[in-house]
Amino acid sequence: MTMRLPADGDAMLAAAALKGRLGGLVPEIAVICGSGLAELADAVADPIHVPYDTLPGFPRLSVAGHAARVVAGTFGRRRVAMLQGRVHAYETGEADGMAAPLAALALLGCKTLIVTNAAGSLRAEAGPGSVAMLTDHINLTGRNPLTGAVGDGRFVDMVDAYDPDLRARFRALAEAKGIPLAEGVYMWFPGPSFETPAEIRAARLLGADFVGMSTVPEVILARALGLRVAAFSLVTNLAAGMGGTHLSHARTLARAAAGAAVLRELLVAFMEESA
Ligand code: HPA
Repeated sequence: MTMRLPADGDAMLAAAALKGRLGGLVPEIAVICGSGLAELADAVADPIHVPYDTLPGFPRLSVAGHAARVVAGTFGRRRVAMLQGRVHAYETGEADGMAAPLAALALLGCKTLIVTNAAGSLRAEAGPGSVAMLTDHINLTGRNPLTGAVGDGRFVDMVDAYDPDLRARFRALAEAKGIPLAEGVYMWFPGPSFETPAEIRAARLLGADFVGMSTVPEVILARALGLRVAAFSLVTNLAAGMGGTHLSHARTLARAAAGAAVLRELLVAFMEESA
């Protein structure tokens, strides 16, 4: 099934530019590093850094805690392209800000996307510092990154969007290594204001376990591009109205940095596994 994205022109230029910078390295796995999680890329050996502002269609970023570059290289036994920084719908009003980067990486040969984010938790037992693997999502924002795409490929099947095989492998690795790993459904709120306590109560009724302002558009794009997806939330706070505290971006970043080590351990275990 064919599909053309408005970002396809930029994606082709960006793929060519990236290819020129990577000197023969063909990344198999792309990783989006979420808020406060840029250091996940520290595990990349012989890294090649490519600033977003040299790549057509890549976002120009405005959020503290997000670098703005691709870090490509070898991570364990895998060749990776780590995206340090994403653009959120709340920055531009557009949900497709990561379309060109993801399409470019798919053109380069990436088959798998691992998405990470900072999130609020609706589950008291998975509190700040917990890492959760996402099993599904809820998008009632009225926004979709494929709006404006052309062709039958835009009607993307979202059953098993969070790849069951990858989930089983991550689950087995977490158990083998003794890494605590929660799991559940992520609900996308567009932000940038945090949710109200009433919205969180509504989200709970709808089946959400975690809430955040990213990831869902990227997962939809990735599925449209034929990438397999795994996604992880680093819980930085209990959701609004649950923790008895007020929410802030500064607290989100501080908590993300503290919990990033667990997520990194999990990724290292995955990347060390033979393909
Ligand atoms: N809500 C939305 N986004 C978030 C949260 C939250 O509670 N925590 C970190 N990112």
